[in-house]
Amino acid sequence: MIIVFVGAPGSGKGTHARRTAERCGLRHVSTGDLLREAVDNHTELGLKAEEFMKAGKLVPDEIMMDLVSELLDSPEGADGLVFDGFPRTLNQAEGLDELLTSRGLRVDKALLVDILEDEAVERMALRVSCPKCGAVYNLKSNPPKVDGVCDECGGKLEVRPDDREETVRARFKEFRKLTQPVIDYYQSKGLLSSVRTNGPVEEVAKKVAAALDACGEGAGGSAA
Ligand code: AP5
Ligand code: MG
Repeated sequence: MIIVFVGAPGSGKGTHARRTAERCGLRHVSTGDLLREAVDNHTELGLKAEEFMKAGKLVPDEIMMDLVSELLDSPEGADGLVFDGFPRTLNQAEGLDELLTSRGLRVDKALLVDILEDEAVERMALRVSCPKCGAVYNLKSNPPKVDGVCDECGGKLEVRPDDREETVRARFKEFRKLTQPVIDYYQSKGLLSSVRTNGPVEEVAKKVAAALDACGEGAGGSAA
């Protein structure tokens, strides 16, 4: 089972992809989290990606495709994957299909999580996240139980460096220009559902589960 979450910055991809993966017993893959980890660890990938991320730009496709190709060959996630923030260019979407086809797999479902730009800017001003396990909190609507500490793993919560308003707006520009074709691509293949993510998280989670037909069982399995 391969599920793809597509959406603008702050739309709730991380929040709901993570829950979906837990509920369905799949591996949650946030390319943003993987890149941030690489930046923190000063790896070769991190050094290549850092400047793009700081500017709110997408990291080049070749780098992303190498990262995902490696990931698909790892035994973790053999039962399936929930991609969060990948693919986000048409090249990446086509490249993912090639990588999956050569492994006898395919994308089963794509979910657009939809938000207005101003709502996202407001949410991101209130976001803290855990670099250790990827859990995400909103200081107003979904705060951690203990200030600054992750409920799930006890990690130290951080504010993301790309959550300044001007960087968020730059990320939105990239989304409109480069990721809209990905939405059209999955729509044309009949794989796309869409959920507006305004309203309380629990309500949105129910809409997400319904749109995915629970764990996507209705999609017919992931063999190509
Ligand atoms: P990435 O980490 O993917 O960032 P993004 O797409 O900008 O999205 P976010 O993680 O900011 O938001 P989200 O949709 O996950 O929302 P969240 O659940 O946190 O990418 C970062 C960068 O990495 C990119 O700019 C790019 O440079 C690079 N990159 C990554 N993948 C790439 C790729 N494939 N190709 C090229 N470059 C790539 O929710 C936001 C906040 O709202 C949280 O605080 C949350 O608690 C809160 N919230 C969620 N739902 C609700 C609700 N219903 N009500 C109230 N608050 C809510
Ligand atoms: Mg995220």
